[in-house]
Amino acid sequence: MCLDACHNFLDFRKLAKSRLPAPIFHYIDGAADEEQTYRRYTEAYGDCDLVPNVLAGVESVDMSVEVMGQKLDMPVYCAPTALQRLFHWQGERAVAKAASTHGTMFGVSSLATVTVEEIAKLAPGPKMFQFYFHKDRGLNDALLERAKAAGFNVMALTVDTITGGNRERDLRTGFTSPPKLTPASVMSFALHPMWAWNFYTKEKFDMPHLSGHVDQGTNLAVSVGNYFSTMLDQSMNWKDAEALCAKWGGQFALKGIMSVEDAKRAVDIGCTGIMVSNHGGRQLDGSRSPFDQLAEIVDAVGDKLDVVCEGGIQRGTHILKALSVGAKACSGGRLYLYALAAAGEAGVAKALGNLKIEIERDMKLMGVTKLDQLSRDNIRFHSRAA
Ligand code: LAC
Repeated sequence: MCLDACHNFLDFRKLAKSRLPAPIFHYIDGAADEEQTYRRYTEAYGDCDLVPNVLAGVESVDMSVEVMGQKLDMPVYCAPTALQRLFHWQGERAVAKAASTHGTMFGVSSLATVTVEEIAKLAPGPKMFQFYFHKDRGLNDALLERAKAAGFNVMALTVDTITGGNRERDLRTGFTSPPKLTPASVMSFALHPMWAWNFYTKEKFDMPHLSGHVDQGTNLAVSVGNYFSTMLDQSMNWKDAEALCAKWGGQFALKGIMSVEDAKRAVDIGCTGIMVSNHGGRQLDGSRSPFDQLAEIVDAVGDKLDVVCEGGIQRGTHILKALSVGAKACSGGRLYLYALAAAGEAGVAKALGNLKIEIERDMKLMGVTKLDQLSRDNIRFHSRAA
């Protein structure tokens, strides 16, 4: 299988699986407990149908959106994800360049493997920084200052990782950052010599935003669950979020909001956006899926801040469904991470390009030339047994 044969999300997943050592593939692919929430992420889009209009003169369509003050050429962006150099040696550089090629936003994690300064030089377009609130206040201040000085446009505070999720695939494979050399992992690296060659012969794995503050993750191998549980500050509360929002002084979002009550509090503390998300189903299994929860959040706060529907997106129609309900844009991690693992920058560019082609086709078939023409009139939910 090659990149040209990747027509959809599952094709990229298959190619990624063939290229990555098992612990790394399962780190991306896995979720928490029984992975019920993660499965529901995408299934939720199948529980409603689009209702198209015709004869609408759709020879040219405009799929641009504005979200949290950023003009995007397409209504989906690359959500921030950690540790990208583990997936492909080009790491965050690949995602930044591919997102720029397609005129969309991308996020860079506090746990990134390339610095915000370098990314900012590579990609002058809209960029989001994903903030993890650490116990180490010096690290928190440094993260905020670096992202601001590098010209990042949106700050997203992660609020759904107050403790590590139970990722049993990682427990079984022994996945850690950096990867630990155990008999099983050495065997999986040997079975993927290209990955191992690139990982061990190119630049040394590092999480440069953490260097000088904490050793875990770079010099000390830990699981991501363990990192969240031990390094992040579990006392984080609304006052901390409000203070961070004020200190940032620009576009500020809470990433990982699921309840209407919290969405309203996000408005109260001055947020300009929220990501309806529960971290790719990797934290609280059994939590409702973001798309299922979208309508009630949009109804409560959609006129006061930008609501992003994050997770489970595999198709252009999923994006049109979320926008019909009232999301301003969609975002996702796995939607570009398998592609990154499969083929670096070219892979991510193809994954975004595939989505762009689908969105354009789907808009034409829906009879809309602009995305703000979509509304709940265009969508019907299947009735569920009580
Ligand atoms: C995850 C974090 C790091 O593994 O985003 O889910």
